[in-house]
Amino acid sequence: MLNGKKILVGITGGISAYKTASLIRLLVKAGAEVKAVMSGAAKEFVSPLTIATLSKNPVYTDFFNPENGEWHSHVKLGIWADLYIIAPATANTIAKIAHGIADNLLLTTVLSARCKVMVAPAMDLDMYQNAVTQQNIATLRNRGFLFSEAQEGELASGLSGKGRMAEPEDILQNVEQYFAQNQDFKGRKILITAGPTREKIDPVRFVSNYSTGKMGYAIAECLAERGAEVILVSGPVDLKPRHSNINLVSVESAKEMYQACVEHFPKCHAAIMSAAVADYAPKIIAPKKIKKNGESEMTLTLVPNPDIAAALGKIKTENQVFAGFALETENEFANAQKKLESKNFDFIVLNSLKDRGAGFGYDTNKISIVFRNGNTENFDLKPKTEVAKDIAQCLLQLLK
Ligand code: C5P
Repeated sequence: MLNGKKILVGITGGISAYKTASLIRLLVKAGAEVKAVMSGAAKEFVSPLTIATLSKNPVYTDFFNPENGEWHSHVKLGIWADLYIIAPATANTIAKIAHGIADNLLLTTVLSARCKVMVAPAMDLDMYQNAVTQQNIATLRNRGFLFSEAQEGELASGLSGKGRMAEPEDILQNVEQYFAQNQDFKGRKILITAGPTREKIDPVRFVSNYSTGKMGYAIAECLAERGAEVILVSGPVDLKPRHSNINLVSVESAKEMYQACVEHFPKCHAAIMSAAVADYAPKIIAPKKIKKNGESEMTLTLVPNPDIAAALGKIKTENQVFAGFALETENEFANAQKKLESKNFDFIVLNSLKDRGAGFGYDTNKISIVFRNGNTENFDLKPKTEVAKDIAQCLLQLLK
């Protein structure tokens, strides 16, 4: 249910921190990758060793590792997470979040988080009911924070009332619901091209390239997971789409890819051209296997293939968002900008073969996104699944 989701758990200093150990176990069991960050006070209630063991990751407690001076980046943690859960969230931490205070790693990460933050308040009933706490909770709600509501019952103080941290099972349910609802591409139909094309020479030979389709398939999965209906027009690759929202249209040659795209694009809200389409194809496809004829050279005459992106760029309407890729070996930005204009893309994803780990075959990619107005956003080398999220985010902004 939470497969592939990255969840950061922030633990503050409340007695119910012991329940967070169970929560982490439940999240890991549900398939999530979990990292934890603890406030100084939290370490008094539950040991970082317990949390590290259950989360299967080192626990972050300080900005620096006091032993070797290693810097723990709140920015990296904040970007890494798909959801940040603060459980337990004490009155103190809630107040600090409400006022933008960032005097520990846990709080600083709240400010840098790009994902939603879910807060599970835990405190004594009087602290919970106190007007200032209620005001702070209201501030957080208005800012879009998610809540796993405090529950009624016996409290650590011996008193009874509202303020107990939600049970780990209830928090897990809220997390699962959140991810099920995170459907920001729902109602959008998106065309994606992926993989190489094969241009036949004869019945047993072809001209092609090294594209594996990994980037295009990662984009397709990412958008489908977020509710989009995806039409994935794919050349021959070893991959299979997993998500049921993906309709696969398998093609072989650039001409077939062109036909499929021209047919589907007018019904789509957006298209991302990530296929490595062969620019040329043999002029004649020999009906039978070409035999050696004893001559020292043989000549293959190639003729241009249709430029699919350029064709779609011409029929693109104002309401459609259109994007493509540029794989460049020199003058990357100037070439990308030219391509952006000539194909009428709204943005172009540039990857350079000069960057190690980027391009064909790798599971990682390092991209820059160039927009119509010349603005450029540069991203770090990261897994293609993560690159897909960056591209999805750009697309979402433009679709809005
Ligand atoms: O001109 P170039 O092939 O480098 O442009 C790359 C972009 O154009 C990519 O998005 C690619 O998918 C698309 N393209 C296409 N049809 C072609 C050639 C490229 O859709 N024939």
